[in-house]
Amino acid sequence: MVPSLVLPLVAGMAAHLLCLPVSVFVFLLLGVHVPASHGSPAPIPPSYDASICWETSMCGSVNISYPFYLSNATREITYHYTSNYSCGYTDLEITCQDEGPTATPVIRLGGDDYTVLNISYDSHTITLADSDVHGDARCPAVRHGVNFSEVWLHTSTSNVNLTFVFDCDPDVPPRYTSKYRIDCDGVKSPFGGEASFVFTPDDKDDERELAAPYYCKEVITVPVRSSFLAMASNNQTMFTSGGYGEVLRHGFELVWSYGTTDDHCEPCEESGGHCAYSQHREFLSCLCSGGKAGNPNCADISANKESASSSGN
Ligand SMILES: *[C@@H]1O[C@H](CO)[C@@H](O)[C@H](O)[C@H]1NC(C)=O
Ligand SMILES: *[C@@H]1O[C@H](CO)[C@@H](O)[C@H](O)[C@H]1NC(C)=O
Ligand SMILES: *[C@@H]1O[C@H](CO)[C@@H](O)[C@H](O)[C@H]1NC(C)=O
Ligand SMILES: *[C@@H]1O[C@H](CO)[C@@H](O)[C@H](O)[C@H]1NC(C)=O
Ligand SMILES: *[C@@H]1O[C@H](CO)[C@@H](O)[C@H](O)[C@H]1NC(C)=O
Ligand SMILES: *[C@@H]1O[C@H](CO)[C@@H](O)[C@H](O)[C@H]1NC(C)=O
Ligand SMILES: *[C@@H]1O[C@H](CO)[C@@H](O)[C@H](O)[C@H]1NC(C)=O
Repeated sequence: MVPSLVLPLVAGMAAHLLCLPVSVFVFLLLGVHVPASHGSPAPIPPSYDASICWETSMCGSVNISYPFYLSNATREITYHYTSNYSCGYTDLEITCQDEGPTATPVIRLGGDDYTVLNISYDSHTITLADSDVHGDARCPAVRHGVNFSEVWLHTSTSNVNLTFVFDCDPDVPPRYTSKYRIDCDGVKSPFGGEASFVFTPDDKDDERELAAPYYCKEVITVPVRSSFLAMASNNQTMFTSGGYGEVLRHGFELVWSYGTTDDHCEPCEESGGHCAYSQHREFLSCLCSGGKAGNPNCADISANKESASSSGN
């Protein structure tokens, strides 16, 4: 933009003469400039397709309801740019794989797929298992930690960490090998290469020694539900010969809450609406019953019934 070079000169010369008008002028230029380069949230039309909001769907045995939403329930809006919006929090998108009783809900976190085992709308808790370990291999390999944006999702106090150590020197001291080595009927390490090991939080000191770069190169830590770990790690032999896989299949819990406190979602929900978000996590509008979008919340719909219905289609 030309004014970005010229403006400081003009503003500098004129500042002491025309202080107020110049700052207004600068403000206006910036106001026009920002949406053009970064885009601004596209407004939801006053009437929207209410079917994206007021339906709960079952995916397999899991009830998918707001603030979660199915990936096929987004709608496109075009303003300065084209984007999709959801009736639900951006990060809580669920893809339903398959149909009927075998349907499996999947959520994507930090680029990895997690199978949704359960959603509790009362305690705001979602139970997830790494989709790679969800199958029935007795000794599954863990390939990555759990990485997610903490805007809406947070870790739960019911989780503890399970640590996998692999890519180890073949001469690992026997005291680690006998106790912590993953051994499924003598089959090779599920992680490939040499032996791999699994440690619970109780084995923290041994884990630190083994994971030191001298013996092993790779460490992956994943959350698991402490209640299931306590049960399965009672018998160490069973644990390292496949019991750990059961613990992984029971997954871990995350809790959800409002995202940033300065968007309008909380008052929207309190007025009976559902929050619409863009794919870029921007709060767009408050989706109210009857296919009407409120701004900032559903209270203004009842106040402005006339204008809302006359501008709809
Ligand atoms: C799903 O959960 C929502 C929210 O708790 C509830 O209103 C709805 O009745 C449930 N639907 C089914 C089919 O269980
Ligand atoms: C909107 O969603 C549809 C269907 O999921 C997808 O094909 C399309 O690419 C999305 N548009 C944008 C701008 O992300
Ligand atoms: C979206 O997916 C769900 C679950 O797979 C399915 O029941 C529903 O019919 C789909 N909706 C549309 C509009 O495709
Ligand atoms: C976690 O995800 C964020 C954003 O998606 C990314 O920047 C970061 O590198 C990831 N961290 C790891 C350890 O993968
Ligand atoms: C899902 O969570 C609810 C609430 O915590 C619980 O009552 C229910 O038994 C769980 N369902 C499954 C299949 O774990
Ligand atoms: C589990 O590990 C993660 C990542 O290494 C860490 O941020 C978290 O504090 C650990 N949780 C517990 C309960 O130790
Ligand atoms: C642990 O489980 C193994 C295999 O089932 C069994 O042989 C062993 O006796 C158990 N050990 C204890 C202490 O219960």
